[in-house]
Amino acid sequence: MSAIRYDFRSDTVTKPSPAMRAAMATAEVGDDVFGDDPTVQRLEAKAAEMLGKEAALYLPSGTQSNLVALMTHCGRGDEYIVGQMAHCYRWEAGGAAVLGSIQPQPLANQPDGTLRLEDIAEAVKPDDSHFACTRLLALENTIGGKVLSLAYMREATALARQHGLACHLDGARAFNASFALGVPIAEIAAPFDTISVCLSKGLGAPVGSTLVGSAALIAKARRIRKMVGGGLRQVGVIAAAGLYALEHNVARLAEDHANAKRLASGLAEFVDLSLPEPETNILFVDVAPQIAGDFAAHLAENGVAAISMYGGRRQRWVTHLDVDAAAVEAALRVVRAFFEGRTAKKAARQPEAVS
Ligand SMILES: Cc1ncc(COP(=O)(O)O)c(C=O)c1O
Repeated sequence: MSAIRYDFRSDTVTKPSPAMRAAMATAEVGDDVFGDDPTVQRLEAKAAEMLGKEAALYLPSGTQSNLVALMTHCGRGDEYIVGQMAHCYRWEAGGAAVLGSIQPQPLANQPDGTLRLEDIAEAVKPDDSHFACTRLLALENTIGGKVLSLAYMREATALARQHGLACHLDGARAFNASFALGVPIAEIAAPFDTISVCLSKGLGAPVGSTLVGSAALIAKARRIRKMVGGGLRQVGVIAAAGLYALEHNVARLAEDHANAKRLASGLAEFVDLSLPEPETNILFVDVAPQIAGDFAAHLAENGVAAISMYGGRRQRWVTHLDVDAAAVEAALRVVRAFFEGRTAKKAARQPEAVS
């Protein structure tokens, strides 16, 4: 296997740019647990303003941000309704259950990432001592690269409210959703009580997430962040990267979406690769089983990294700040070289002769 030259595994792999590093090196700092770090305060104010909420909290990771949000809304023995494929249920090591004693009520995600409204309504438990108290609906946008519409988010949260539930959005990539929907991120945040937004994905900061919501909820979340070990001291050094990301790297997400479209159209030329049109910066590609292992090995040998699942039969490709349009073309050349002389392109495939 050769060294990775074009890294499409995730938008988490970005490295801080020289300008971002300069902002980090010159950041004003103080002890943030004492509330003394001016850079963190600027970051939190900026995040709250962009998301249209009263307050924000800076946290070391998206996982901790979701955990803190779930523990802010739910107490021991309470329950949250969540998608089977949601990060805060499936990919966070069961933290809400382990650390918060919060029971998940997972529901099937539909192919478009939504939860059926009927399923949500049915999952809310009656007030009966047999059941956990259902307190929260947690959605995710974007989810698996797909965008939940504003109409859906409004309907699902309105339904949750009818049942007395609070609403949390894992908006790790909510800025991607905002660009894809063509609306300010505050419109996405509006129907939710809390929203968690990652700074270390498409926005390109090395570390950090923010949780935003009302002043009262964020004050509660601050205490829980301390409890789980997320109170950090002169953290302005890394918060400066997050602030830089919010100030400079939001509008450029458009490039990632355009690069994902170009990548998808290049990959879709080959009969052995099937994929839907990407909605954001993430594409999932189904690879014909007969080539799966060889194709994954060819990419790796040629310095192209994508996430390979099910023995290479499914791949995840993600565009981001550190793979520009030229990197996309270079990766497509590597893909083309694999298929050269091996399989016809889709357009060139001849109909079977009828005898
Ligand atoms: C949708 C979503 N939420 C939360 C997270 C967690 O973020 P972190 O890796 O910073 O803990 C991720 C990470 O990939 C994610 O994709």
